[in-house]
Formats: sequence, structure tokens, C-alpha cells
Amino acid sequence: MIASSQSFAPPSLTITDLDTTAVSHITPPGEDVIAGLTQRQKTLPPRYFYDATGSQLFEQICTLPEYYLTRTEAAILAEFAGEIAAVTGRCELVELGSGSSTKTRHLLDAYHLLGGTLDYVPIDVSREILVESAEALLADYPRLRVQGLVGTYEQALTHLPVSPDAPRLVIFLGSTLGNLTPEACDRFFAQLETALNPGDYLLLGVDLQKDPNILEAAYNDAQGVTAAFNRNILAHLNWRFGGNFDLEQFQHRAVYNAAAGQIEAYLDSGRSQTVQLTDLNLTVNFAPGESLHTEISRKFHLPTLQTELQNHHLTTRQIWTDPQTWFAVVLAQRQS
Ligand code: AVI
Repeated sequence: MIASSQSFAPPSLTITDLDTTAVSHITPPGEDVIAGLTQRQKTLPPRYFYDATGSQLFEQICTLPEYYLTRTEAAILAEFAGEIAAVTGRCELVELGSGSSTKTRHLLDAYHLLGGTLDYVPIDVSREILVESAEALLADYPRLRVQGLVGTYEQALTHLPVSPDAPRLVIFLGSTLGNLTPEACDRFFAQLETALNPGDYLLLGVDLQKDPNILEAAYNDAQGVTAAFNRNILAHLNWRFGGNFDLEQFQHRAVYNAAAGQIEAYLDSGRSQTVQLTDLNLTVNFAPGESLHTEISRKFHLPTLQTELQNHHLTTRQIWTDPQTWFAVVLAQRQS
């Protein structure tokens, strides 16, 4: 069933591995860790959350009662996918960070109903997840053609398959946009501005600003799954770089910074301690209570987001929200 693009794939599924070495802005593994751990405010790049355990923990987070994001976005898509498809008409669907493509099924249902071949380009760093979810989708959608790309979304945006007869709809769900700093978000919109042709669409799922108690509960769940997810970044570094972080000596903390409009996640050192990362030749000292900053989750203000999109010729066509206005799905179109 599976094949790389150079061999015997059935017409409906091809998987292409993007060449990571060709991308100059991705630093060699570990350099970003050294840079983060040698700053005054120690930080870690959030990409190290997502090893196999981290991805499983994140799946669990998505089902937690406090973590309203996933189910709220899914409900919006379930209710309005038909309207989204009606606004854009037939499109090639390109999904950044597609994962298991669960929520995307609402969109695939709606676009499948429009008739003709449905082209879907899922993009994910995990080849296994990409293949598994593509095969499941192909079993359910008879007119689906999947061209999966294994790589980061930055890589994929410069390697999109030649656009067919229909416009593209680039889909970026789950408020993953919120894990980018404002500067990285602006660079991402600039990349989209270049990658999209006039008339192409962008569909964003974004979490909105709201009562800080609701936000803080979503990132400090009662079962401690988010704490385990946060600490797992240290386990990943231990495994990957020969480290000796003692996970029990780091306390999870997530707070809402209202001025910046973002949840900030930290791991606070329980005592004075020294950590070695042998493979990186790095020794790091922590003072008692010293924080290690691991993640931001920005919470958006829609008019500001619309202006930021418009700065890159991405004009908002329509916005769908849930009844409490906690989450939004934004459809923008690339202008000429
Ligand atoms: C993947 N991302 C959108 C999640 C978020 O809400 O920022 C990651 C996460 N971190 C802790 N809980 C969930």
C-alpha cells in the first residue's frame, strides 16, 4: 500500500520524505538546546516535547476535561465544515502538522461531497503517523488522492506539489499557531504569502483570549497529564543527549501572562542542582526555584490576528466560533 514517490505507489497514495539537510534555518540537533540552557532565563525549544511519549501524552491532554481546545475546535468543524466548503468551492487540501487527521475528517466529508477527486496533502514529521492515517482515510473516502509530505511545515511550504486545477486550502488546526512567538508567527505568515497563489485559502484554528482561570486550568489539569508532558521534555533530552535531568526535581507551572496574551509553561527546579548533557559537552547549574521556560501558548484577539494576516495579503473571508467564543476557525484568502 505504501511507497515512496520514486516507486510503485498505487495512484491514490504517495509519501515523499523532504530532505532535512537542505533546510538551512533548522539548526543542527542540540545547538538550540545549548543556546536555550545558557541564557539567563533558561529555555528549551518546544520541538523536543514531541518524542513518542510526548505525542502520546499530548493525545491524552486533548481528551482532558479542562483542555477545551480540541473538542471545541472539533465541534466548530463538525457544524460548519459544509459552510467552509461552500465558501471556497473545490480545493486541494494541504494540512500542516496533520497528525492523526481526526478533526480533518469533518472537512474531508464536506469537500468529498463537492464531487470529483479529492486531493489531500498531509504534512507531518512522523512518517509512521502519516502513513497510518492516510491508509485509514483512503479506506473511507473512495475518491481521495493522498500525497503525504514527511517534514516540518517550513520545509513543506517550499515543496508543495504543483497545484492542480483547483485552488489550495492550507489547514493549520489545533491552535498550534499559538506555540509560535509573534516573530515566528509573522515569519510563518510571510512564508504562506509566498507559498500561496492569489485566490488560495488558509484555514486556521486558534484559541481565543478569555477568563485566565479557564486558561490556567487547561494547562494545570487535575490529573497531572500536562505536568507529565512538560517534564517529559527533560526525559527526551536525557535520552537524546546523554543527560541526567532528575524529573522529580522539576515542578510544572503554567501561568497566564495577560499583557502578552499567552500561557507560559515552566519547570521550576526543586533545589540547587547540576545537570550534565554529556553528548553536548554541557553542564548546567540550577538555583533552588530557578525556572526553565518550556512553552508559550498564545491566545488570540481576532481583530489583531486579522490585521497580522492582512499585513501578508491574507484577507479574512469568514470566522466561525463556538457559542462561548472560546475558539475560532478563521478562513483567509491570499489576495493578488
Ligand atoms: C500543540 N499545542 C497547540 C498545545 C497548546 O495548547 O499549546 C500544546 C500543549 N501544551 C500543553 N498542553 C497542550
